This record gives sequence, C-alpha cells and structure tokens, in this order.
Amino acid sequence: MAKKRTIFTCTACGHETGRWLGRCPSCGLYNSFEESVVEKKPADRRGDLRSPVSIGRAKLINQTSSLEEDKFPTHISELDRVLTGGIVPGSLILLGGEPGIGKSTILLQICKNQDFPILYVSGEESPGQIALRAQRLGQFGDNLHLLAQTDIAAIEAEIESIAPALLVIDSIQTMSHPDLTSAPGSVTQVRETAAFFMRLAKERAMATIIVGHVTKDGNIAGPRILEHMVDCVLYFEGERSGGFRIIRAVKNRFGATGEVGIFEMAAQGLAAIANPSEYMLSGRPINAPGSVITCSMEGSRPILAEVQALVAATRAHNPRRVVSGMDYNRVNMLLAVLEKRAHLNLSEADAYINVAGGMKLTEPACDLAAIAAIAASCKNQAVDAQTLIFGEAGLAGEVRAVNNVQRRIDEGAKLGFTAAVVPQANLKGLKRPEGVKVYGAGNVNELIDLIFS
Ligand code: TYD
Ligand code: MG
Repeated sequence: MAKKRTIFTCTACGHETGRWLGRCPSCGLYNSFEESVVEKKPADRRGDLRSPVSIGRAKLINQTSSLEEDKFPTHISELDRVLTGGIVPGSLILLGGEPGIGKSTILLQICKNQDFPILYVSGEESPGQIALRAQRLGQFGDNLHLLAQTDIAAIEAEIESIAPALLVIDSIQTMSHPDLTSAPGSVTQVRETAAFFMRLAKERAMATIIVGHVTKDGNIAGPRILEHMVDCVLYFEGERSGGFRIIRAVKNRFGATGEVGIFEMAAQGLAAIANPSEYMLSGRPINAPGSVITCSMEGSRPILAEVQALVAATRAHNPRRVVSGMDYNRVNMLLAVLEKRAHLNLSEADAYINVAGGMKLTEPACDLAAIAAIAASCKNQAVDAQTLIFGEAGLAGEVRAVNNVQRRIDEGAKLGFTAAVVPQANLKGLKRPEGVKVYGAGNVNELIDLIFS
C-alpha cells in the first residue's frame, strides 16, 4: 500500500526537505518553499541496504550548500557548544549514558525550546510519566507529540501523520523490528531498528535523536555498535547520585569532537554550570594528603579537577587497585613508574585513585597529578592546596611536555592558585600570571622534591 507523505520543495531550485524552511539552504531564496503531498512506495526491504545519502545525481561542490546553515540550535548553550551550533536536519544523534543520568530530561528540554513539530517516542515510560517530568521543566507548546510505542512500524505510521522535524527515540534498547524474532535490546534488534530510523531521518530530513543505555562497564549490546552508523555520538558522564553531569561529543560529523557541556541536575532539569572549575573544586579537602588539583583540556576548555589517592599498606598477596575517573591501566603504569623510579614501596600497598565529582580524565597531562597524589598519600604529606600540577609521565620516569600549558596555568590563576608544577620542557616562552610561581619538573623525582620541599 502506498503511503502519503508531505514534502516541501523550493520553487526556485527544487531543493526538497521534510519541513518548512524560511530560507532555501540550496539557493538562498526566502519564502520559496511549497508544500506538497507525495505517495511513497511501500518500503523495499532490499532497498534498505542502500546508503541513505545516495540519492540524486552528482553535484558540483561549489553549487552544494553546506549543512552548516541548516543547523537549528537547541537553545541550551552548553549543548549547542557540544554540537558546534546545533542539530543538522536529517542527522542521527546517539545520546548514550547510564540509566538515570538525565537523558530523558535533557531531551525534553531540547523539545521545549522548539516550535516545529516534534515526535517523542518512549518505549520506557507512558505519556503520563513523561508529562509529569515535563511539568518540572516548565511550559511546553502545542508542537510536542508524545507516543508510547516500541513497534517501529507503528512509529513510522505516526511519523507519516505528524511529519515531525525532530524525532526522539527513548530508548533504542526498547524498540522492536517486526521482521525480527530476537528480543528488544539484542544486538540485531538494536542495529536493525537504528538502521531503520537512520533511513527515515535521511529520507525525510528529520533530525533524530536516539537514546542508548550503557552500563558502568560500557559493554552492553547497544550504543557501542551504533557509533559507526550515526552522525553524532554524545555521551553523558557523571555520578547519578551527584549533581554534576558532562555531555561529551565523542563523534561529530558536523562539528568538533571532544567538546563538553557541563551541567548540574537541579529541580527544574539540567542547568548549565557557569564556572566548571570552581564547581569541581567546591568542597575539596584543604591540605589533606592525597588530594591534588590538575587541569585537563576538555574540548577547547581548560577545567580544573581534583585527583585523590589513598595508599594503605596491605598483607594481601595481590594488593587492591581501584581506579575511578582515570584509565585503570594508565594508573597501574604510573604506580609501576613510582615504584621503580622513585623507590616508593607500592607493591605491598592497596591503592585507590579517584577523580572527584565523577569526572573522567582521559588526558595523559593528568599523569603528574595522579603521581603526586599517590606519592603524597604514601608519604602522608599534603601537597600545597594552591598548587596546580600537570604533565605527562613516561616509563623512564621522565616528565613530557603537554599542550595548552599557558591556558591551563591561566585557568589556575583565575581560581586563585599561586603555584604550578609543569613539565620542564614547557617552561620556555611561558607567561607567568601575576602572583603565580611556575616550576618545571624534568622527571618524577624532581616533581616529588618540588612538591614536598
Ligand atoms: P532521567 O532523565 O529520567 O534519566 P535517564 O533518562 O537517563 O534514565 O532522570 C534522571 C534523574 O534526574 C531522576 O532520578 C530524577 C532526576 N531529576 C531531577 O533531579 N530534576 C529534574 O528536573 C528532573 C526532570 C529529573
Ligand atoms: Mg529515560
């Protein structure tokens, strides 16, 4: 059976979209779109295999408009920063994160700020439950449609009738493809239903956000296998219990990757944190052994973070190593470097390393902070609370140069830090902010001498 669908065509150049646009992205004319209803052939299953972007004939690059101008902002400043300006029509975005971290909340906040038709499909909650959450977030317009459904055929029918410019699928693990017998959430179901939504998104120029749950180990069937399919992958970080949340773009075909948005879960949904460094340091113990402040470049932004270490003697044959917020293997390497090069006795001690606030530090530039924290806990001696420490450590115990040193030091100075220990190799050409002493460390022993002298 042929299905009807509404399209908008530019009367000047023939550009087609799934929603009305004020200005044609192809030829730049204003008010040139005309609405028409077309009959759509029943879906050809083999046709699903073709690339969703392989439509039409070859175009000259100079006559092809970039998708940049089509982007619509989410009007959530921290999120627009992550998406480099906004969402591209027809793009498929994967929003991953642990259950309860705030995915549904931020999605509703995105929906709240738009005026075009939106379809919010939930396979987890009833419209009543979603409306209850929406009440906390403020006033919604008449453009947001809620649908509790898991069958993708039924969802497609609803899309045909509403013709949304934005589709939200919450979550992909609950969706089921009628042609498949495996349970929702299985790899095949997740992959096939995502492919289905991708085809719809591209055909209708309908931006689509799909939610994917990940567990703590990030190993569940789902988001990871989707990463290569979608245009953009956003991950939520943070502790469910704490208020602080980070949204990170790990892949973005339409903008910068690595950029982060920083939020706090408040009573009215997620609110941007104006000064992340200050927030990360609030409530830190002053002059406690094992607490060290470092500066990590999160996307284009320097952010201060607290690395904590607790080293305690043990009689166990295999001492415990517990790491949260940093790479487990990297920390083990640093422990070995300290043992071998700085002669700290760590093989008979349990070591716990934690990054405060649920932040994840992925940069090698944070090595020295972990080293300093471990050494401090081991010696039971505090590192000065107003000293910022960063730099990469090598296996020979050498301290290696890192990038953006000036910006990291300036960020520390802004928050009242009076000293910084940085790689020796980075000292050249550095401008020292007023009131900040900058010391260079060439190896881990020099670092330890500097911070405990
Ligand atoms: P939710 O968005 O449902 O998480 P997810 O979709 O990722 O599973 O919300 C997570 C938590 O946020 C939930 O425990 C309730 C809390 N919350 C607030 O603190 N403030 C709010 O305004 C809202 C809507 C939720
Ligand atoms: Mg949810």
